[in-house]
Amino acid sequence: MTQEGAGPELKKPVVVLAFVSIGLVYSTMLVGVFLSSGPITENGIVCTEWPLCPNGFGPPEDRYLMEYVHRLIAAITAAVVYATAVIVPSRARLAKKVALIAAGLVSLQMLLGLLTVLTILEPLVVASHLSTGISLFAFGLLTFWWAGVWKMR
Ligand code: HEM
Repeated sequence: MTQEGAGPELKKPVVVLAFVSIGLVYSTMLVGVFLSSGPITENGIVCTEWPLCPNGFGPPEDRYLMEYVHRLIAAITAAVVYATAVIVPSRARLAKKVALIAAGLVSLQMLLGLLTVLTILEPLVVASHLSTGISLFAFGLLTFWWAGVWKMR
């Protein structure tokens, strides 16, 4: 199956941005799993406030560091996933569709991240956070794939 293109000049930035998106989702997941396995935090959550930890913008304390890193990369990831959904031309129909689904999933993921913190690791919320993260990665990959095979004119 092929898709119509919107001009060769757009293809490269779209493919690059789609690739950066999946790289960022992957990195956020990596830090998330590190966080939940708790080498520093011991129980996966020490910062029960949102959006900042109790020390606010003060110098990062070791115990909050990974949580800050996870939230910071998540925010950058969300911005890049949204940008990808915007930049994919509508004429690359399948790429646009999956990029928009990825944008919806990243919004849901941010909300679930917030609930993970506020409910202090309610199991259903944690399970949803993990499975939505995996779905987000899958749709990011599909966006990269469809943007890559989209035919230029
Ligand atoms: C693109 C956005 C995000 C992705 C892809 C993502 C992904 C993940 C993944 C894969 C885990 C590991 C889950 C597990 O091992 O059970 C995790 C853990 C976690 N995430 Fe996120 N996350 C995102 C955003 C956020 C945000 C915005 C917050 C909070 C403000 C957050 C809070 C947490 C917390 C507290 C944990 C630890 C949960 C535990 O200890 O089981 N996440 N995240």
